[in-house]
Amino acid sequence: MVNVGILGATGMVGQRFIELLADHPNFEVTALTASSRSAGKRYEDAVTWHLESKIPEAIGDTIVVDTDPNQVKDVEIVFSALPTQHAAVVEPKFAEAGMKVASNASAMRMEPDVPLVVPEVNPEHLDLIETQQKKRGWDGFIVTNPNCSTIALVMTLKPLYDQFNIKRVYVSTMQAVSGAGYNGVPSMAIVDNLVPFIGDEEEKMESETLHLLGDFDGTTVTNANFGVSASCHRVAVLDGHTEAVFIEMEDDFAVDDIKQSFSNFNGLPQKLNLHSAPENPIVIHEELNRPQPRMDRMAGNGMAVSVGRIRKDDVFENGLKYILVGHNTIRGAAGASILNAELINEIM
Ligand SMILES: NC(=O)c1ccc[n+]([C@@H]2O[C@H](COP(=O)([O-])OP(=O)(O)OC[C@H]3O[C@@H](n4cnc5c(N)ncnc54)[C@H](OP(=O)(O)O)[C@@H]3O)[C@@H](O)[C@H]2O)c1
Repeated sequence: MVNVGILGATGMVGQRFIELLADHPNFEVTALTASSRSAGKRYEDAVTWHLESKIPEAIGDTIVVDTDPNQVKDVEIVFSALPTQHAAVVEPKFAEAGMKVASNASAMRMEPDVPLVVPEVNPEHLDLIETQQKKRGWDGFIVTNPNCSTIALVMTLKPLYDQFNIKRVYVSTMQAVSGAGYNGVPSMAIVDNLVPFIGDEEEKMESETLHLLGDFDGTTVTNANFGVSASCHRVAVLDGHTEAVFIEMEDDFAVDDIKQSFSNFNGLPQKLNLHSAPENPIVIHEELNRPQPRMDRMAGNGMAVSVGRIRKDDVFENGLKYILVGHNTIRGAAGASILNAELINEIM
């Protein structure tokens, strides 16, 4: 078993890490960190648990420590669920201390020597680890996963990008409140309402998508060359981001070929049979009222993206449109980092 730690273990994403790692065949959680508000307390006393599952017994009694590499002993991998501004300062210290950091935070995502990876989409970008270690003189390293709404989008774009010529992508999101953390969106702001702005989210979707689908020559990623326009909105859903996607293709296509492309899609995690890999990364729905977050967010144990209403859009030349749903704290956050770590553990 590989000893792992969770940085920011008391937050929304930290709790998902604990839940998903509870019976993991390769990873054992041996360290939990949070802010100085929680350090020194038993996990059960420090956390306000928000998930339906129970706190695993062995975890409840674990003493939370400060988020400092000197406090985290005999750990090979740390999963980071820290707020971005804190991650920027602390994650490099963990990598410098020799630990492998699998991060959810956006702080390091766009650094040219830090792999931003979705294992089904661009596993080859992990080769940047060597460049990063040489450049920074670290024994450890940092690997990141994208923003929650980008992951779901890019998993559906990857098979299309490989088989068709994409000219432009427009995406309008309806994002769950858990994406902002437990204290992120006040109930007075969201009940009976919709908030038409999520700070930095549109920029992240636009830049991360092109980076994930970019060409990699072994040392540098060159962004994919098509337009992405995102409009991001918060809705009164607990978990599960919904996205309405509109794509202008360069050439004509048949809707059945798009469906075939989605249903045939899989990648290295499926070939290697990694523990958290969904058997089918994209689940297609033919019903007109699907996918819906409440019904479909747990597809593939929360690791698959559900797609429906795949149809032509006659407003554009060669237009395609569809709806997708992805679980934001599983596939979009904790599960994404765990899959990255499973892949690294298997191939490196
Ligand atoms: N929620 C999502 O769907 C989602 C999706 C993708 C990515 N992310 C990213 O994942 C990260 C965590 O998000 P979240 O929603 O889980 O946030 P959250 O619920 O606010 O949790 C933040 C965690 O970080 C700890 N923390 C806060 N300030 C700290 C400090 N100064 N030093 C050390 N630890 C500190 C907190 O500990 P205390 O309990 O002690 O305060 C808590 O454990 C963020 O970077 C976010 O952008 C979130």
